[in-house]
Amino acid sequence: MTDLTIELREVSHAYRTAAGKLPVLDNLSIKVPKNSFCAVVGPSGCGKSTLTRLVSGLMIPDEGQVWLSNHQVTSPRPTVGMAFQNPVLLEWRTILQNVLLPMEIVKTKMTKDEQMARARHLLDLVGLTGFEDKRPSELSGGMRQRASLCRSLIHRPEVLILDEPFGALDAFTREDLWCTMHDLRAEEPFTCLLITHDLRESVFLADQVIVLSGRPAHAQHILNVDIPAPRTLDDLYTPKAVEMLATLRHEIQVAQGRSVAEPAAKPAAHARGPIPGAMG
Ligand SMILES: Nc1ncnc2c1ncn2[C@@H]1O[C@H](COP(=O)(O)OP(=O)(O)OP(=O)(O)O)[C@@H](O)[C@H]1O
Ligand SMILES: [Mg+2]
Repeated sequence: MTDLTIELREVSHAYRTAAGKLPVLDNLSIKVPKNSFCAVVGPSGCGKSTLTRLVSGLMIPDEGQVWLSNHQVTSPRPTVGMAFQNPVLLEWRTILQNVLLPMEIVKTKMTKDEQMARARHLLDLVGLTGFEDKRPSELSGGMRQRASLCRSLIHRPEVLILDEPFGALDAFTREDLWCTMHDLRAEEPFTCLLITHDLRESVFLADQVIVLSGRPAHAQHILNVDIPAPRTLDDLYTPKAVEMLATLRHEIQVAQGRSVAEPAAKPAAHARGPIPGAMG
């Protein structure tokens, strides 16, 4: 049997709003094997961030179950690492002190020296050696996001949850960070759940891409990305990757209600146009 890190079993959830109940997730089932990378895409407002709150235990679903490493999630899990679109780094701390922050909250067997060595090692892996003693405002947006990734990995989380972490970055910085993600995982495997609007990002990074339907969302389509490691950005321009991107784009359009649910037509070479990438 596959060792699962994340499992959602028929999860349904609704928010209670002033206007009444807002059903957001409907019978959503997801399986993410240990040390694999799962990307989730779907229309805006379909419930992707809600999904991250359920996996991290910040919310408990109305129906169904969420499991993390064979434990049912019933309260917030400190062993989860999270990074968001806007890295919230503390300005009164240096970059090194920011990276070490989770160690003040999470129970650990690491000694202070080990924590320091690990923080420096992670910063080195993401290219931030020499910036340990800077303040967040002295770094670029991409550098701050790199530091934020180190902070979310410092305590060896059982799962890293990324909610559009690269969304605010320019295209080249974003691609750089995709490669950094691969480097980090090659050095030290971890399970990752990525929420993104960028289909190229999902195909480049993930082992499986889950397309959520419109709200209330279920898993409308699961794409297995069988591009072998190590992946390079050139892999995104192969016919196989282009076909996967076309499939995802089609599924997103179905989820948005713009297209009927039928298999994506293979784009004719002359009519292919720009590679399908960011949604919208
Ligand atoms: N705390 C809340 N109370 C009430 N409604 C909420 C709450 N949080 C989110 N919602 C609503 O639930 C729906 C799903 O929100 P969610 O943030 O999960 O969507 P999303 O897929 O992450 O969207 P986006 O792609 O724009 O980030 C939205 O309609 C949103 O307005
Ligand atoms: Mg969101």
